[in-house]
Amino acid sequence: MISFQPDPDSNNFGRFKMRGVSIKRSVFESSPPKKTRKKILLILETLCKVICSINLNEYELMMNAFERFGLLINDRVVRTPVGIASMAGIVDAAYVIERSEHIGFAFIGGYSIDQKTMEAGKLIAAKGDRREFLSDNPVEELLRQIALMGSSTVILGINLRGSTPEAFSAIAAAIGDKVVYEIDAHCRQPEMIAAGCGEHYLKNPEELVAVVRSLKSHGVTVSVKIRAGVAADDRELARMLWNAGADVLHIDLMDFGPAKLRQIRNSCPLMLIANNSITSFDKMKDMLSHGADLVSLARQSDVRTLSGLDAVITRHADEDGWYNAPKQLCRGGDIRSLAFCCMPVKECPLIPTLTRMEISKENYIRMKQDAVKGTPLDTGQQTCFGNLTWCCKISSPCMFRDMTIRQIGLSKKEYMRLKRDLSDTLMSGVFHDLPSDESG
Ligand SMILES: Cc1cc2nc3c(=O)[nH]c(=O)nc-3n(C[C@H](O)[C@H](O)[C@H](O)COP(=O)(O)O)c2cc1C
Ligand code: SF4
Ligand code: SF4
Repeated sequence: MISFQPDPDSNNFGRFKMRGVSIKRSVFESSPPKKTRKKILLILETLCKVICSINLNEYELMMNAFERFGLLINDRVVRTPVGIASMAGIVDAAYVIERSEHIGFAFIGGYSIDQKTMEAGKLIAAKGDRREFLSDNPVEELLRQIALMGSSTVILGINLRGSTPEAFSAIAAAIGDKVVYEIDAHCRQPEMIAAGCGEHYLKNPEELVAVVRSLKSHGVTVSVKIRAGVAADDRELARMLWNAGADVLHIDLMDFGPAKLRQIRNSCPLMLIANNSITSFDKMKDMLSHGADLVSLARQSDVRTLSGLDAVITRHADEDGWYNAPKQLCRGGDIRSLAFCCMPVKECPLIPTLTRMEISKENYIRMKQDAVKGTPLDTGQQTCFGNLTWCCKISSPCMFRDMTIRQIGLSKKEYMRLKRDLSDTLMSGVFHDLPSDESG
């Protein structure tokens, strides 16, 4: 909030107030002549308006982004679902700022945060083939990096390499909730694994859970960076992390395709970031249509690639209405695609899927009917099942559905938005109604 209280008839030039900071009269103590004072006031007033308009523009931009993607991390709107994954020794605040116009989030680091991992970092750096961020005072270095980000709209995460819950807890206590805390359970450098972090956590998930819990005790947002296919069962791991309170799962899908992502999507409601070799819109879309909420890039996080992905996904969201719409279930979609499924009346993947999820047919029907009550989807006598609730994705051609939405004045984009809302409601129902051994 910015305000200006001028007092031109006295030597007191008034005060500018912006977000609780006020510029006091002492700044203008030199007492220039009245005419000059008025000029200064005019300039300051204009400046104030410019600052105000920048903030209003920013506010509008963020509201548009929220409308477009519906993404919030750490209670802040994510401008675009494209971001940067950490690279030790490379991705710091300066690296992020250079690319900040084209990304919604970034994880700087990884930073070693205790004696064991700091020693491991030194050993890795000494080998000469990898860079590391080496610091004997990680809190000081992290605070310096965070300060460099200034008032950037990029959601900032810090990728941390630590070997005990206490080490993570100490960082959270010192830094607070302004950043996302990412646990590096991904690094496969032998020195880091021997120090008890990185992939060590994937083989010892109970230790990883203890770290998540210790961070969550500080009320901060927690992301866990994993490498798919290392833990005994990625689905089980995802459920454990969700139950421990993690907010985001950042998955390096190296060696695995979108099928692995779908499995994880079907196991938990965590926000998912897909990672590894996502360098084209086709690859990005493949991840988004199999359950990813966001995608991250590391090696190819150059301005050209990031800006290209940002531009195309923004256009796609504006045209389609649901930027990460799943494929239909019978075409390999994840369970968000229940929003497009018909009544459970025929032999198709729907019934086995419901059985696996321990949802009865009656419950599925009731969940969908309740979710659309009072919305424009609760209509459509000409459609196969008498209601748009059961209708297919807009990309499946159908004159009956299209005629219905035309008649009720719904655009194709709005239809997809409503399906997205339906899917969100179904997902919260599915994950809160899971059998107690899975959800407890
Ligand atoms: C030089 C280098 C350093 C990396 N350092 C880290 C790290 O400190 N923490 C981490 O979680 N991942 C780290 N990664 C993994 C990347 O974040 C990312 O998961 C991986 O490179 C695959 O994504 P990409 O195909 O977009 O590069 C590093 C990768 C590279 C190439
Ligand atoms: S219910 Fe319809 S959309 Fe769903 S899997 Fe069966 S045929 Fe496909
Ligand atoms: S009316 Fe068309 S869109 Fe709706 S369920 Fe039937 S085939 Fe699918």
